[in-house]
Amino acid sequence: MSRKIIIDTDPGQDDAVAILLALASPELELLGLTAVAGNVPLALTAKNARIICELAGRDDVPVFAGCAAPMHRPLVTAEHVHGKTGLDGPALWEPAMPLQEAHAVDFLIDTLRREPAGSVTLCPIGPLTNLGTAFERAPDIIPRVAEIVLMGGAYFEVGNITPAAEFNIYVDPEAAEIVFKSGISITQMPLDVTHKALVTRPRLEAFAALGTRTGAFTAEMLDFFERFDIEKYGSEGGPLHDPTTIAYLLDPGLFSGRHVNVEIETGSDLTRGMTVADWWGVTSRAPNVTFIGDLDAAGFFALLTERLARLP
Ligand code: BDR
Ligand code: CA
Repeated sequence: MSRKIIIDTDPGQDDAVAILLALASPELELLGLTAVAGNVPLALTAKNARIICELAGRDDVPVFAGCAAPMHRPLVTAEHVHGKTGLDGPALWEPAMPLQEAHAVDFLIDTLRREPAGSVTLCPIGPLTNLGTAFERAPDIIPRVAEIVLMGGAYFEVGNITPAAEFNIYVDPEAAEIVFKSGISITQMPLDVTHKALVTRPRLEAFAALGTRTGAFTAEMLDFFERFDIEKYGSEGGPLHDPTTIAYLLDPGLFSGRHVNVEIETGSDLTRGMTVADWWGVTSRAPNVTFIGDLDAAGFFALLTERLARLP
C-alpha cells in the first residue's frame, strides 16, 4: 500500500527534484502540492509547481496556492540562489493545468479531516507558513497528521541565509515554532545532512545521460542552482536539500540522526530562525525531533537517478 503525502513547497530547483522523486515513486501517493511563498513570491512558486507536474506528465496532481507572506513578518526571498523565476536554468513554459480554486491551507485542513487519522504524511520543503497557519486555525488536525518530514534548519553547519539560520526556518520562524511544538512526530533534514548531498559533476551528468526530457530539465536546473553554493563553499558540487525528505520516506536506512530537542529562535534579531538542537543532551528539554546528521550520499543519488529514469 502506498503512503499518502502532501508536499508543501516553494519551487525552487531542489524542490522541483523532490517533487519529481515523489511522482516517480509508486510507494507514495501524492495527494496534492501546496505552494507557499519562499524562494520566490507565491505566484511563481504556484506556477513552478505546475510546470514540474506537467514535465512529469502528471497534470492530474492538484496544485494549491497558499500563503503569500509569513505569519507575522514581511517575505524574504532567495532569487540570488534560484534566479528570477525560481527555476532558472531550463526553458520554462506557461503551464496549461489550472491552479485549484481552494486555498492551500483549506486543502490541508479538509484533507486531514477527511482522510483516516494517522494516514497522511506532510513533507514541507519551504517556509512553514501554510502548516503553521493550518495548525493555528484548526488545531483538531494536529493529532491526525501521521508524521512530518521536513527540510529546514541547521546546527553544526549553522546558517545559509544568516550566520545562524537556514532559509526555510528564517523566513517564518513563528510558523516553524508552531510546527516544532505541535507534538507531531518530526524528522528534520537540516543543512548538516543536505550539505553532504552534493551534486558533483558525475552525478549531474548522470541525470543528463538519462536521455529523457526530465533528465535534461533536471541537469539544466541543477547546473544553474549549484553555481551559487559551489562558489560560496568551494565544494565539488552544490547541496541538493529538499529531495532528502522524499528519499527518507523511500529508504530511511540511507540516513542517520538522533532524537533530540529542537527549539526555534523567534526573539533575537541576531539569531532569528536558528534551530537550537540539543544534540549532546545538555538540557532536560524533551526530545521532539529526529535530527538527521548524515546520509549515504552514493545511495541517495543512485536512488534518485534510478527513480527519475522512470519519468518521461
Ligand atoms: C532551503 O531553502 C531553499 O532555498 C531550498 O529550496 C531549500 O528548501 C535550503 O536552505
Ligand atoms: Ca525549498
